[in-house]
Amino acid sequence: MKKFTNVADIGDLNAAVAEALEIKKNRFAYTELGRNKTLLMIFFNSSLRTRLSTQKAAMNLGMNVMVLDVNQGAWKLETERGVVMDGDKAEHLLEAIPVMGSYCDIIGVRSFAGLKNKEEDYQERVVEQFIKYSGRPVFSMEAATGHPLQSFADLITIEEYKTTARPKVVLTWAPHPKALPQAVPNSFAEWMNAADYELVVTHPVGYELDPRFVRSEQIEYDQRKAFEGADFIYAKNWSAFADENYGQVLSVDRDWTVDSQKMALTNNAYFMHCLPVRRNMIVTDEVIESERSLVIPEAANREISAQVVIKRLLESLETVSCND
Ligand code: CP
Repeated sequence: MKKFTNVADIGDLNAAVAEALEIKKNRFAYTELGRNKTLLMIFFNSSLRTRLSTQKAAMNLGMNVMVLDVNQGAWKLETERGVVMDGDKAEHLLEAIPVMGSYCDIIGVRSFAGLKNKEEDYQERVVEQFIKYSGRPVFSMEAATGHPLQSFADLITIEEYKTTARPKVVLTWAPHPKALPQAVPNSFAEWMNAADYELVVTHPVGYELDPRFVRSEQIEYDQRKAFEGADFIYAKNWSAFADENYGQVLSVDRDWTVDSQKMALTNNAYFMHCLPVRRNMIVTDEVIESERSLVIPEAANREISAQVVIKRLLESLETVSCND
């Protein structure tokens, strides 16, 4: 594996989950693989889970880890080619990327949707430029339109807790005061479809996701109806995807908050969310604190999904060090 930005990069999902569960039993089995290898983690925006779990995963593999917060202490980066750089941006990504690549063996990139220009966001310019110009294997630690490390952790979690071969998994929109990207729901739907689970997506009219990820027949606009018989409820907010209101908040209707009454409609479903979560907007205290809430084991599995991905990228490296 030379890069990891979507479900196709990981290949066979059964094999990936099996590898994850094997690593979980002994996460220090491959400490030699990463010896004298360096992971550079680059953050264009904030993170708690991704930062800690990915760093831990790399350390489990024996790697050295460097973390760069682009917005704290680095030069401000210009991303557009052809711009006259007479503003506040002192360095161009086109120099910064190969320079960063020269200091490491593998690069993890965390970027975020601008939510102003749909075409720009869906081109994934930042992560794609790292893939093109760094000369290193690159993996997404969440990009503008996808969060594959999260979805892989979600898949591992569902595989651990499911009691039927093909569980009913419901992705539900829930209210949030700010405009959030479609990255997590896009990836979640992509991975759940690849796993061939019964996926139902519920949201208010106007929040339809990219049809490349969610087919129209998978949408149920009645949230309560969608919850009926569900084995897993995955809550997440996202902003509008449609051209006419891309990136906008169309509703903060708290009738969409996941609460105990709605959970009672399910097949005693587990509750999931990628975190961070706004309590009593997305989900009530009662549901997130219930014994059916998986938010903590789900976050813990971020270490495992990251470790599988970094392990596979390490295995793809040639024996020559980038520092040679
Ligand atoms: N779920 C997730 O990616 O969390 P962070 O934004 O804290 O990394």
